[in-house]
Amino acid sequence: MRFATALFLASLCLAQPPDANYDESKVGAYQLPDLLGEAKTSRDWTSKRRPEILHLFENQMFGVAPGRPKDMSFEVLEQGEAFDGKARRKQVQVAFAKGPNAPKMEILLYLPAGVKGKAPVFLGLNFQGNHAITDDPAVHITRSWMRNIPGNRSDESKRAAAASRWDIPAILAAGYGVASIYYGDIDPDFDDGFQNGVHPLFYKPGQTRPAASEWGSIAAWAWGLSRALDYLETDPGADAKRVAVLGHSRLGKTSLWAGAIDPRFSIVISNDSGAGGAALSRRIYGEEVRHLNKSFPHWFAGNFKQYSSNEAAMPFDQHMLIALMAPRPVYVASAVEDRWADPKGEFLSAAAATPAYKLFGLSGLPATEMPGIEQPVMGTIGYHVRRGKHDVTAYDWEQFLKFARMHWKR
Ligand code: GCU
Repeated sequence: MRFATALFLASLCLAQPPDANYDESKVGAYQLPDLLGEAKTSRDWTSKRRPEILHLFENQMFGVAPGRPKDMSFEVLEQGEAFDGKARRKQVQVAFAKGPNAPKMEILLYLPAGVKGKAPVFLGLNFQGNHAITDDPAVHITRSWMRNIPGNRSDESKRAAAASRWDIPAILAAGYGVASIYYGDIDPDFDDGFQNGVHPLFYKPGQTRPAASEWGSIAAWAWGLSRALDYLETDPGADAKRVAVLGHSRLGKTSLWAGAIDPRFSIVISNDSGAGGAALSRRIYGEEVRHLNKSFPHWFAGNFKQYSSNEAAMPFDQHMLIALMAPRPVYVASAVEDRWADPKGEFLSAAAATPAYKLFGLSGLPATEMPGIEQPVMGTIGYHVRRGKHDVTAYDWEQFLKFARMHWKR
């Protein structure tokens, strides 16, 4: 076995240890924290209960993030035609501060050429660089630090490596645009004590790392998504009132948090986000809080560490994260072989968010039993479990586009 392969397998084992529960009969009885509390109306929810829940997630799980930096600037680095004239491409640099050493991210944006006026946009972070989501040769190669590749830098050989996860032709054909950013532009995904990425930009004098209630990496990635939305608000071709934020896996945890913290996102989509995302923590099935905190100590706020093997003490569970989107549409997608992410726990969580939607007279998730494989359910909350493994597929995109059309009515 090549050393790199051995290392990769070892890292997989580390992330999915053998002590995880995959036996449904071992899921004990658990009680979810009360979602509505005293809230009886949508107004109670919006003015009191929602802020309480948001505050809990901010302080105990993802960490408090700063707002929009005052010296942020946008620069269109390149633009042109793409996808045989079906799209207009823009590559936009976002500088989070002034000066040559300011942290920066690069947005790759495609807008549908045939649409007059502003087009709704799907916005999501990517794992392998902007050049990996398409074979478009004009897309800049992302040079930021990257996990799991030799030398931690990408190159031309990775162009289109993740294109199967981004069904750009289908998105454009639906009349929508798509924008993506390499997540490591915002904060490299390793535990470096928060010395690189965007965190240091906001340290107070003498501060060397975020406080226990302050942002970890997921909150930083979500913050980057809000900054991308700041840019889309200025782009004449993008309908910033119709932006769906989406993400897969750790980036699905991120899209849920982005949607919770930033109500400007019109639709929120989680794909296989699992533990710390859509899946209920109290089921203790697949990945658990202790696994998250051990393998990825930089993802969440310091305060989240107290819940390792201590889920019953959490003042929230993940159904409350989904409910933070109410009354906006939210979609949860699972894959049947992705047991580490607990598909059933993702479904139950989406279903348990429904009472918040009912306060608005909305359907929430119109299902109480887990639907069959590839039988999507779509209300204000949508859910499907498809066949196959942990991934984003054309099937997933087909449902996301259908869900968006249903809610955006265009
Ligand atoms: C690991 C991790 C998950 C995460 C996933 C991913 O499996 O344990 O929580 O969602 O990586 O981001 O691919």
